[in-house]
Amino acid sequence: MTYGTIIEPFRIHSVQAIPNPTREEREAALEREGSNLFGLRSSEVIIDLLTDSGTGAMSSAQWAGMLDADESYAGSRSYRRFRDTVKAITGYAHVVPTHQGRAAERILFSVAVKAGQVVPNNTHFDTTRANVEVQGAEAVDVVIEAARDPAAEHPFKGNLDVPRLEALLDERGRDAVPMVMCTVTNNSGGGQPVSLENLRAVSAVCRARGIPFFLDACRFAENAWLVKEREPGEADRPVREIAKEMFSLADGCTMSAKKDGLANMGGFLALNDGDLARECRNVLILTEGFPTYGGLAGYDLEAVAIGLEEVLDPQYLRYRIASTRYLADRVAAAGVPIMKPAGGHAVYLDAKALLPHVPPSEYPGQAVAVELYRAGGIRSCEIGSAMFGRRREDGTEEPAPLELVRLAIPRRTYTKSQIDYVAEVVIDVASRAGELRGLEMVEQPRWLRHFTCRFAPRDR
Ligand code: F0G
Repeated sequence: MTYGTIIEPFRIHSVQAIPNPTREEREAALEREGSNLFGLRSSEVIIDLLTDSGTGAMSSAQWAGMLDADESYAGSRSYRRFRDTVKAITGYAHVVPTHQGRAAERILFSVAVKAGQVVPNNTHFDTTRANVEVQGAEAVDVVIEAARDPAAEHPFKGNLDVPRLEALLDERGRDAVPMVMCTVTNNSGGGQPVSLENLRAVSAVCRARGIPFFLDACRFAENAWLVKEREPGEADRPVREIAKEMFSLADGCTMSAKKDGLANMGGFLALNDGDLARECRNVLILTEGFPTYGGLAGYDLEAVAIGLEEVLDPQYLRYRIASTRYLADRVAAAGVPIMKPAGGHAVYLDAKALLPHVPPSEYPGQAVAVELYRAGGIRSCEIGSAMFGRRREDGTEEPAPLELVRLAIPRRTYTKSQIDYVAEVVIDVASRAGELRGLEMVEQPRWLRHFTCRFAPRDR
C-alpha cells in the first residue's frame, strides 16, 4: 500500500519561537515605516513570507559541515568541496564563489556588458535588471505572452518567447547583445518554470549566432522538478539529470545559493569560457575576495556544497513543490485570484484582479501586502508597480505589467498548520478587498526603490 499524503521528509531538530505582535503594534510599525514592509523588524512579523532567500532551515548535516569547515585564506578544503559539487551538478569548467547572487551578476555584467548593449531575459529579477542598467545597458524581458495572464494555466509560463527573441537579435545585431539570460524558475513572473524544450530552442538560437547564454539558476532544482512533473517524457528521468541538461544548454550561470543552495548565504558564477572566467576572477579579487572564498567563510562554502546535494533529493523536491501547491490550491478554492499554476517557491496573489478599483499608480499589490500584515502579521512582498514601475520625468507613473503579491515560502521552515493560518488570513483579506484603498509613494530612491520608499494612504 502506498499512501497519498506527502509528508515533510525531515523531523524538527531545533526550534525557534515566532513573535506574536498585537494588532496595535503592527499598526504602529506600519506607521513608522511608511507602509514599507522591508522596514519591519522581524520581531514584528508572525509569519515571514517576504522571501525564500537565505531564510530556510539548514540540515543537521549542513551545521555539522560548518563546524568542520576549513577557514584557510587560500586553497581551503571547503572551497574544493564547493567547487567540485558545483562542477558535478552544472558541468561548467570554472566556478567563481560570490557572497550572493547579485555579486555574481555584477561581476559578470561589469566584465561582459557594455553601455548601449541589450540583455534579454525571460524576466529580469530586480537586482539583475538593476545590475544590467547600472552598466548603461538595457534589460529587456522577452517572456511568452501567456506569462502576462495570471489566470492562464500554461505549464511553462517562464518560457522565453523564441520568435520575439530572434526578432530582437535580428534588430539589434550580434554585437549589441553580449548575452541572453533565462531565469529558472522565473521569479518575477510568478515562480513559473521554463521547459527543457524552450531551453533547447533558446540555446540553439544563441549558439547559431555565437551569443553566450546564461542561466539565472537560483531555483534550478525546483525548475527541474517541475519539468519532471509537467514536461511530456520527463517523468521517469532523475531530477539531477534534468538539471544537468538544463545547465548543458547554457554556457554558464549566476546563482544565489540562498535559494536552491539551501544555505543562509552564498552564491557563485560558473561558466565554460576560460578567458571570461579569468577576467571575472580579477574583479572578484578586487571586490569580493580571493578566488577560493569569494566573500564567503569556509563554513558558508561547506553549507552550500551540502545544500546543493540535499536540494536534489527527490523526496525533498516532491514535498517542496507539493507544499507550495497546497497553499495555492487552498486560496484558489476560496476564489482568491492567483498566478496559475502554482509556481515552485511562492504563491503570487493577483492584486490587479483582487482590487480592480485601485489603479497601478496607487499600488494595489502594496495595498494587499499591507493589509495581510495588518490583519495577520504576515509579511509578503509586492511584485508590481512599486518594484518594477518607474516615475517618469513628468511625475506620472509607468506601471509594471503585473500587480502581484508574493507569498514566498522559506524552505523546510514553516509547518502545515502555519500555512493553514496564512491561507485563512489571505482568504479573509480577499473577502474584504472592496474596502482596501490605494497608496501614494511619497519618497523614493533612484535604484531599487521598493526597498526603501515610503507610502502614505490615499483618502478616497
Ligand atoms: N536572481 C533571482 C531570480 C532572484 O530571485 C534573486 C534574489 C537574485 C537573482 C539575486 O540573488 O539575493 O542572492 O543577491 N531573489 C530574492 C527574492 C532576494 O526575494 O526573490 P541574491
